[in-house]
Amino acid sequence: MNRLDGLEIPWWRRGVVYQVYLRSFADSNGDGTGDVNGLRSRLPYLADLGVTALWITPWYRSPMADGGYDVADYRDIEPCFGTLADAEQLISDAHDQGIRIIADLVPNHTSTEHDWFKQARTAPIGDPSRDRYHIRDGKGADGAEPPTDWTSVFGGSAWTRLPDGQWYLHLFAREQPDLNWGNAEVRAEFESIFRFWLDRGVDGFRIDVAHGLVKDPTFPDVGAAPEILVSANVPDHPFWDRDGIHEIVPSWRAIVEAYDGYRILVAEAWVRPERLPLYLRPDEYHQSFNFDLLKAPWDAARLRAVIDDGVKAAAAVGSTSTWVLSNHDVMREATRYGLPADVNWRTWPVTGPAELLDEAAGIRRARAAALLMLALPGSAYIYQGEELGLPEVCDLPTDVLDDPVWERSNHTQRGRDGSRVPLPWDRSKPAAGFGSAPAWLPQPEGWGELSVAAQREDPDSTLQLYRAALALRRRHGVDDETLDWLDTDPGTVAFRRGSGLRCVANLGPEPIELPEHAEVLLTSSGLTPSGRLGTDDAAWLL
Ligand code: NOJ
Repeated sequence: MNRLDGLEIPWWRRGVVYQVYLRSFADSNGDGTGDVNGLRSRLPYLADLGVTALWITPWYRSPMADGGYDVADYRDIEPCFGTLADAEQLISDAHDQGIRIIADLVPNHTSTEHDWFKQARTAPIGDPSRDRYHIRDGKGADGAEPPTDWTSVFGGSAWTRLPDGQWYLHLFAREQPDLNWGNAEVRAEFESIFRFWLDRGVDGFRIDVAHGLVKDPTFPDVGAAPEILVSANVPDHPFWDRDGIHEIVPSWRAIVEAYDGYRILVAEAWVRPERLPLYLRPDEYHQSFNFDLLKAPWDAARLRAVIDDGVKAAAAVGSTSTWVLSNHDVMREATRYGLPADVNWRTWPVTGPAELLDEAAGIRRARAAALLMLALPGSAYIYQGEELGLPEVCDLPTDVLDDPVWERSNHTQRGRDGSRVPLPWDRSKPAAGFGSAPAWLPQPEGWGELSVAAQREDPDSTLQLYRAALALRRRHGVDDETLDWLDTDPGTVAFRRGSGLRCVANLGPEPIELPEHAEVLLTSSGLTPSGRLGTDDAAWLL
């Protein structure tokens, strides 16, 4: 019996899940890349922080064309991350410390180095091995045009031509061929992969690109409506959020349910808010990230609306919301919130101007946003370094950029590396405690001042704020799933939880009076000398 047992309410309904971007977390062997044993060595830190579970980004064997989201073997660990035995030890050590493990599974595509694709690439046209992928004739007299006008998420055509003249589909990098989920072998193989990891004790799976598995079998061109290609938010999209997805997931759910101990499925589904509940039906995913909070600007009315919609939508299907402020695909919120609301943060690091960024406002708002998120009903995901208030690193030298987005966007976007710079653990050289060698992405000057060691010494640090918030969250206000809005100024976001915990965030231009209260439990940046809540600050009250 360990501390995971005996819960009456499934842990995931209110858990705080910490996202580990493995290659940037902790490097145990001095090769500059984070690894499984580095993570094992830091489990006490995560237990002390107070997280319920870890979501570990893909650790499978991979040529790393997209940071491991290009999987060559789903049943083995990438050697630069360690061995299968290391992963098994990690799962066991984490469980001993009361922490669950969520693996990241990538069913939409494999790597071009996966045995299946190597076979398909060289097999004769029409060979059944080709049917596991979307491999088709091109258009035009000699088939020299791609089969459709679809574009890859990373830029450029979504099709690449094989030496024999046919084309294969890749919604992401050309090293990530899309699997054909209409193929029975593909379905059977993933059922077996689920069991492989469940047998090794993982507590759940985050399913990558959950909204992309099914493609329109007629492969239509969308020439007349090119906006379809830039948005997943349109009805009857040829490859996003198609209804057929919901015929696949129940078989996964049945497998997961057959194991003991509340194992879960979490969907990464970037879909319209009204479509999200479809993924959360009782025979589908337990959770689906609510990205609307992450996408909302720092604006009280917008935040109230996304919170209200999220709580209601999840409740309608018996689930709870899954809140996210950042992850390894988006600009870190300490920088994002420092930019004006109408600035596109994906292109701003290239286009500037730099003066648009208000760094002080950014970190202040990020701290207030953390208190908002952690007071909401449902679960919350924290991206590594968020608890340190790390900023986006916007000035990585272009020759170190590793994200395929940089090349495929023709250098119009720097990509996601700025949120993936290895963590600072202390002030030491050469890698701020990340490892004994320089990190795979260079850490900026002064990174050590933001480190875990530095922030442990400072009672007002962002790390201490997160630790305190997680401890209070366990003590107050998580035993119910309700939220009641408080009648406060329009520039505020203020609500009460069933336990009595109240959260008030002030997004208006002036300090505000706090509602009547018995106790101030926590504030994101203190109160004014007259006891009011300043601009861009949040407080938890009883
Ligand atoms: C979503 C992942 O979070 C992202 O990092 C990856 O590039 C794409 N899926 C493709 O697998």
